[in-house]
Amino acid sequence: MKVLVVGKGGREHALCWKLKQSPRVSAVFCAPGNAGTALDVQNIAIEPGDTRGLVQFARKEGIGLTVIGPEEPLNRGIVDLFQREGLKVFGPRKEAAELEGSKVFAKDLMRQAGIPTADYRVFRSAPDAEHYALSREVALTIRSRGRSTIRHTLHCRTASEAIEAIDRIMDPREMLSPGVQVEIEERGQRRVFSSTAEARDFVLGRPVSLVLKADGLAAGKGVFVCDNLRQALEAIDQIMVRRIFGQAGDRLLIEERLDGRETSVLAITDGRTIIPLESSQDYKRAFDHDEGPNTGGMGAFSPTPMMTPDLMEQVEREVLVPAIHALKRARRPFRGVLYAGLMLTNQGPKVLEFNVRFGDPETQVLMMRLKSDLVDLLEATADEQLDRVAIEWDPRPSVTVVIAAEGYPGHYERERPIQNLEAVEKLPDTKVFHAGTMLRAEAGPGRDARIVTDGGRVLNVTAIGDTIEQAQARAYEAARMIRFPGAWYRRDIAGRSSRSEGG
Ligand code: AMP
Ligand code: GLY
Repeated sequence: MKVLVVGKGGREHALCWKLKQSPRVSAVFCAPGNAGTALDVQNIAIEPGDTRGLVQFARKEGIGLTVIGPEEPLNRGIVDLFQREGLKVFGPRKEAAELEGSKVFAKDLMRQAGIPTADYRVFRSAPDAEHYALSREVALTIRSRGRSTIRHTLHCRTASEAIEAIDRIMDPREMLSPGVQVEIEERGQRRVFSSTAEARDFVLGRPVSLVLKADGLAAGKGVFVCDNLRQALEAIDQIMVRRIFGQAGDRLLIEERLDGRETSVLAITDGRTIIPLESSQDYKRAFDHDEGPNTGGMGAFSPTPMMTPDLMEQVEREVLVPAIHALKRARRPFRGVLYAGLMLTNQGPKVLEFNVRFGDPETQVLMMRLKSDLVDLLEATADEQLDRVAIEWDPRPSVTVVIAAEGYPGHYERERPIQNLEAVEKLPDTKVFHAGTMLRAEAGPGRDARIVTDGGRVLNVTAIGDTIEQAQARAYEAARMIRFPGAWYRRDIAGRSSRSEGG
């Protein structure tokens, strides 16, 4: 069978690498792929957005199974198109992919199905969202000070009440009498302000716990975890007024902020049978000890002790099964990978988000441990025969460390030549999956010289070992050998503290 993988990251390289190991597979193509997939399989210069081009290629080449990596083509309905053309494809159809493509859809489905998740409200306009944010509890007492003709003591329960009170006291007519000030008391502490702007600013700085989310796909950047009202208003402005995510910001969710440790569960399902994959833990923050900005993921390990058998069973019962059933009832049967991002709160696991595809970089550690033939699993999913296959894992743990470009997740340079990849390929139980790399057109001396960086997350150095310490040591040994200008990585992936506390 010939197989086509759509996408160009580390996830797709890991899928290609695993698919190629199948005795049933004669050729693997990756569209458009990267330098790693060019070396391990065969790249095809078709972008994931070019659905028709991909269908044409699959037809012409006699592709027996196409595997979709990223969420965008799934959301545009690539699976529907392949199926209409009679082509076998792994991934959910457009209507089921909405579980990731629309956070409002996902939350409404969870509410209907009784799946534990943060409380939320949906807004279609910026003023409505602002009004709601400003109606959050702040508990301030506001008094006039100085030579005001009005003697106010106003107990304000919300930010909008507080701002109204400030405006009344600091009325421009009042200000004619010099020396009018406003005093704000919060939990016994008093502060005095002589300008409206400063007083308002203080109110907007009050702590609230809100999470604001653009409804649609925003390349993982559409979520704002806000500590105060100022940040919440700024997020509303970015999403709904300045429209930094375009149509993805037509609707906005405001959620209660959850506390706890984060983890995820990935399962493969044909809409009837659900097979949870081995547990894995990714690291979203850029720097060691989970500091710095959010990223697409700086590393992962599998299995994670956080996901106990009991917890896995609870997630299956409370999240995966009801989600699949609710989608079926909504006539949006789901086939593919269901990825539940979870917060482990002290009231149990709650869903932060659903993804409808393999996680990146979780897939890299999972493919390292998968013993079964991946093509059997993916094909059985597409054929709705998942009940006929069993899944087998290597019990040994695996670790992946992401080597990033200088400046990532902010601005970074491309086309930095990468050294020593060939030497690393010879290390035992180690595999470097490429994420942001390409082959430079003009050939340099030797194979390595031609591989250059082409993204922020460049390489996923992945290793397996008898113990997690051994897998970790192997991954870091390889990571240290690889060189390109500005290369950096987190030093604490699969570290002792993260293994007990989560990434
Ligand atoms: P999402 O894309 O929805 O998973 O959100 C991205 C990140 O924002 C998550 O990995 C969490 O760290 C954080 N997040 C999202 N929703 C919440 C929430 N309700 N409470 C706390 N943190 C959240
Ligand atoms: N590792 C997180 C994701 O794939 O969305």
